[in-house]
Amino acid sequence: MKLNDDIIEKLSNIESLIARGELKEAPENEPERQYYFMAKLRDYVNQKKKELGRDLYACTKTFGCQMNARDSEKLVGILNLIGYKETDSEKADFVIYNTCTVRENANLKVYGHLGLLSNYKKKNPEMKIAMCGCMMQEAHVVEKIKKSYRFVDVVFGTHNIYKFAELLYMRIVKNAMIIDIWEDTTKIVEELPLERKFSFKSGVNIMFGCNNFCSYCIVPYVRGRERSRNPKDIINEIKMLSEDGVVEIMLLGQNVNSYGKNLEEPMSFAKLLEEIEKIDGIERIRFMTSHPKDLSDELIEVMAKSKKICRQLHLPVQSGSSRILKEMNRRYDKEHYLNLVDKIKKAMPDISLTTDIIVGFPGESEEDFLETMDVVKKVRYDSAFTFIYSKRTGTPAAAMENQIPEDVVKDRFNRLLEEVQKIANEQTVRFEGEVQPALVEELNGHIEGYVTGRLSSGLLVHFPGNEQLIGKIVDVRLNEAKGFYYMGEMA
Ligand code: 5AD
Ligand code: SF4
Repeated sequence: MKLNDDIIEKLSNIESLIARGELKEAPENEPERQYYFMAKLRDYVNQKKKELGRDLYACTKTFGCQMNARDSEKLVGILNLIGYKETDSEKADFVIYNTCTVRENANLKVYGHLGLLSNYKKKNPEMKIAMCGCMMQEAHVVEKIKKSYRFVDVVFGTHNIYKFAELLYMRIVKNAMIIDIWEDTTKIVEELPLERKFSFKSGVNIMFGCNNFCSYCIVPYVRGRERSRNPKDIINEIKMLSEDGVVEIMLLGQNVNSYGKNLEEPMSFAKLLEEIEKIDGIERIRFMTSHPKDLSDELIEVMAKSKKICRQLHLPVQSGSSRILKEMNRRYDKEHYLNLVDKIKKAMPDISLTTDIIVGFPGESEEDFLETMDVVKKVRYDSAFTFIYSKRTGTPAAAMENQIPEDVVKDRFNRLLEEVQKIANEQTVRFEGEVQPALVEELNGHIEGYVTGRLSSGLLVHFPGNEQLIGKIVDVRLNEAKGFYYMGEMA
């Protein structure tokens, strides 16, 4: 991939300095310091390969959101550069879990996997295991790993992912479990390698962390305070992506609407979008997540007149009850949310709205729940992610009285899901028969001779086509709405 050419050159320079004995210690500055450790690790992997007479394989497992997916691309970039081959199998020489902790079941899944890994490691003494991501930012998790999962080699968090090469090198030199967790950071290290999962689309971080402290949510505690990337760095990255064949980008942040507030020269998210729109070669722009309290009229205006910003908006409502929203510390009420949706629909009648909803927040009454159902019916989401409230230790909601009994929550959850699906089905039908551009993402895994494309709305369409179409935007007639996707043909 072209993006990494620069980095390979810098790495070779460092390698020759090391070989000539002119660089005996790791430089202090980033990212040079990390290149030094990557060079050292390249050497190590080469030696191991010779010793074993085979390639070394690494497997990166990602849990959770788009942010984690993007972080994993950075990990894979470093692994590839130091000489590991990628594999999906956890019976690899190096396994990395990039974890999520937003809900309890995400944590349980990770512990389940770790049990399996201990068996694999017994059979392959070369095997190394690294754990990173949001779960590692919780002290009780790290304690548990130290106590019950001694076979884990490296543990790091969300703030120091750029140090991956250094930590791995320390593990090899010291031959002991390496744990490096930072409470928070203001540091953003640019210019590190990464390996994109798709050649034609890419996520782009525009900010890290969250300052909102919704009372149920652990994210602000594990991802730290809000930090925006410099607009110049973002634009440069997108220009490079475009030169590298990327046509669609997804701007990532926990709350993109507050982008730029903490920059030396503050800049609004809408302004950033306008700048990105000017970049040649980028055909589609998506972003997530938007917080309803910060979504500005300026943004709606910029979206409405844009040729590139996709007609999709993820606007988590969480609850329809103003009382519960207050308890959740969301800082908007039902009326504000519905007004906002009206404004958005007026400006963009073809917009596809999606949301996140939590059922069973402490103290949620049947009336509160019915308010949520009412919002769902009024907004008519194209799709909604529905979650059962999960108690996260350390958040204010975990200490609230009136936690809702499981059977009540399950019943509400099922009723909500049924309504959400019914409406989503009806929403899909509204575009039936239309011709819309779709970005072809892959060969269809189920029907031979078909490909799968993504529409501006984010929905998928399956239609006859071949490999040559992958990465191209083509016009497709949406012949039949099938609930969450369409069957179509090229127009
Ligand atoms: N329980 C259930 N769902 C949660 N989310 C965040 N925290 C919790 C929790 N404790 C959901 C919110 C958020 C999405 C990413 O995850 O709906 O928007
Ligand atoms: Fe969590 Fe709220 Fe921040 Fe989203 S905005 S990450 S729900 S605290």
